[in-house]
Amino acid sequence: PDGAASRGDLAGRHVVVSAGGTREPLDPVRFLGNRSSGKQGYAVAAEAAVRGARVTLVAANVALPDPDGCEVVRVGSARELEAALGAVLDGGGVDAVVMAAAVADFRPATYAATKIKKTHADEGDDSAPVVELVRNPDVLAALVARRAGGRTPYLVGFAAETGDASGDVLTLARAKLRRKGCDLLVANDVGDDKAFGQDENTVHLLRPGTDEVVTVGPATKALVAAAVWDAVAPDLV
Ligand code: CTP
Ligand code: CA
Repeated sequence: PDGAASRGDLAGRHVVVSAGGTREPLDPVRFLGNRSSGKQGYAVAAEAAVRGARVTLVAANVALPDPDGCEVVRVGSARELEAALGAVLDGGGVDAVVMAAAVADFRPATYAATKIKKTHADEGDDSAPVVELVRNPDVLAALVARRAGGRTPYLVGFAAETGDASGDVLTLARAKLRRKGCDLLVANDVGDDKAFGQDENTVHLLRPGTDEVVTVGPATKALVAAAVWDAVAPDLV
């Protein structure tokens, strides 16, 4: 997929890729986070640049070198990520958004401006606090809504699934694609420590309106990235 035919197929396009994992602050020294390394999103961004796209990479808490040819915008929390994407999209002319970032579904309901201290048993209290959570905005769903039935930007979701009692990875992914309303869903099998922080990945590419599934891998994240753009590029309007 990295051959001559794909080189330049994104020339003149502006694509936006989110990568990494958001952190939801609890106090100045603590956060709720997740295990996303950002490697897959960075590979998607790097591949788009190689194919000739202008790339804006919105990176949430990633410790990786900036990929060549990408403009990197750093964010921390889900709400910062949403604002950064909104600012890029407000500029107009974005052809595709790939939401590879692991966005926290919930954040602490309150942020403590000073470090939360434990109480001490010798002071007659060894209780623990209860952290209340509230929902974060669903950034991808908001992008679908913002498109208002139009075809641009093309929207790609990622879904990290382990499979559970309610269904296997593909069944859950199919339902998620329907729920999200995006144009392509990249379903990532993350059971048993697969995928997170690893260099190889197996994904299933799902589109609305067809039961056809393209499975890629186990393959490097670079090859998965190439397969994603192979799927997206012909459908850009
Ligand atoms: N996503 C998002 N905003 C959120 C949560 C997720 O934009 N608050 C995006 C992710 O970047 C990903 C896609 O939605 O591209 C799917 O994320 P996932 O966590 O798999 O889906 P959810 O709808 O949050 O469902 P659940 O976590 O319950 O499986
Ligand atoms: Ca989620």
